[in-house]
Amino acid sequence: MSNKMWGGRFATGPSEIMEEINPSIAFDKRLYAQDIAGSRAHCQMLAATGIISDEDAKQILQGLDTILSEIEAETFTFSTALEDIHMNVEARLTELIGPAAGRLHTGRSRNDQVATDFKLYVRDTVDMLIGQIETLQLALARKARDHADTIMPGFTHLQNAQPVTFGHHCLAYVEMFARDAGRFADARKRLNECPLGAAALAGTSFPIDREMTAKALQFDRPTANSMDTVADRDFALEALAAATITGVHLSRLAEEIVLWCSAQFRFVALSDALTTGSSIMPQKRNPDAAELVRGKVGRIHGALTSLVTMLKGLGLTFSKDMQEDKEPTFDALDTLSVCLAAMAAMVDDMTPNKDTMRASAKIGFSTATDLADWLVRSLGMPFRDAHHVTGALVAEAEKAGIDLADLTLEQMQAADGRITEEVFDVLTVEKSVASRRSLGGTAPENVRREAERWLKQLT
Ligand code: ARG
Repeated sequence: MSNKMWGGRFATGPSEIMEEINPSIAFDKRLYAQDIAGSRAHCQMLAATGIISDEDAKQILQGLDTILSEIEAETFTFSTALEDIHMNVEARLTELIGPAAGRLHTGRSRNDQVATDFKLYVRDTVDMLIGQIETLQLALARKARDHADTIMPGFTHLQNAQPVTFGHHCLAYVEMFARDAGRFADARKRLNECPLGAAALAGTSFPIDREMTAKALQFDRPTANSMDTVADRDFALEALAAATITGVHLSRLAEEIVLWCSAQFRFVALSDALTTGSSIMPQKRNPDAAELVRGKVGRIHGALTSLVTMLKGLGLTFSKDMQEDKEPTFDALDTLSVCLAAMAAMVDDMTPNKDTMRASAKIGFSTATDLADWLVRSLGMPFRDAHHVTGALVAEAEKAGIDLADLTLEQMQAADGRITEEVFDVLTVEKSVASRRSLGGTAPENVRREAERWLKQLT
């Protein structure tokens, strides 16, 4: 049987393989609410401009309401033969209200329709993701406030570099996630123009009111060029790029949690609720959620790569290739949402092990920079010379198997006779972090102030 939506010029129906490769209903049925919202706005506009009668519009709107409840009650039968969500809705509308249904598609095409549906979906999801990012930031800012004084090693090259506070480390992620939320918000601004009315690609001869449909769907304005409108999927690319960067940040924190939970580190503990055991090794407590967050980022980046590759080299305007935009986007944004929720739960849950962290912060001569800074400050030494003197003292302590703070004053003075007792004041990890009061530094007073600033902003 030929397709009833366009059967006019078709004598026979599609082959089996065509029926397999062509439909998108299996995944685009997810856009039903957006599709119906778009149709409602279009219908009201058609009536307001006198393109269809008020009576037809009334019937169409009632029919669309019925379809919405049928889909939500899961009594709606989706048909693969009807290809996609747009035609499934229209076909059911015809069953429900008869010929008036055929007037809904006046001045519209599936090309502007799908662009509208997909944009509305991306917009709703971006709003939700921004909220989830803020929830995660809040969890991190709370940990930062509670652990403004908790000392841990700060690493470069995964070597002990300088002591920092756990709160400062948490706030580093709060900053990253703020930029991520900003990227989503920025993408949303550019996205928020309404495609409806671009029709197939060239606009329409009907006197439609695009301002009206744009407003009804809470878009800032209609898009300006009909060809761009049906060909554009930048909005999905931007959302996926923002999602990928957010995912990269999540994976870095996830990796740190995995490391911190290991027996070699023991910096933090996760509770039973967020870990798993092993079927063979009774002692195990595995940070699976963190590992999965780290791993799932591959899917998000994969979706971005997939969409970029699909769009690349595609001439204007719509091509069916573009139907391939939805599955990766749905999967990536669903995945990001789960990852954000899992990470917020882990951050809430984790208990830092203060003693282990402090002990670890001390090893590896982590206050060597403080010694060099003291030489500069107290003796007026150029930093490069101070670096050299400190290096010699580190070598000596290393040889003796002791910490810098455990060298005697005599040993210190052997390196430079002007060194006094006061040098020992700067060699503890507490003094080290307390002294880092420069803007953006790790001093507990900075961390407390920054944590409060974020808490105020996020609540
Ligand atoms: N199912 C299509 C998609 O997902 C809708 C647009 C189809 N338009 C067309 N002219 N075949 O992109």
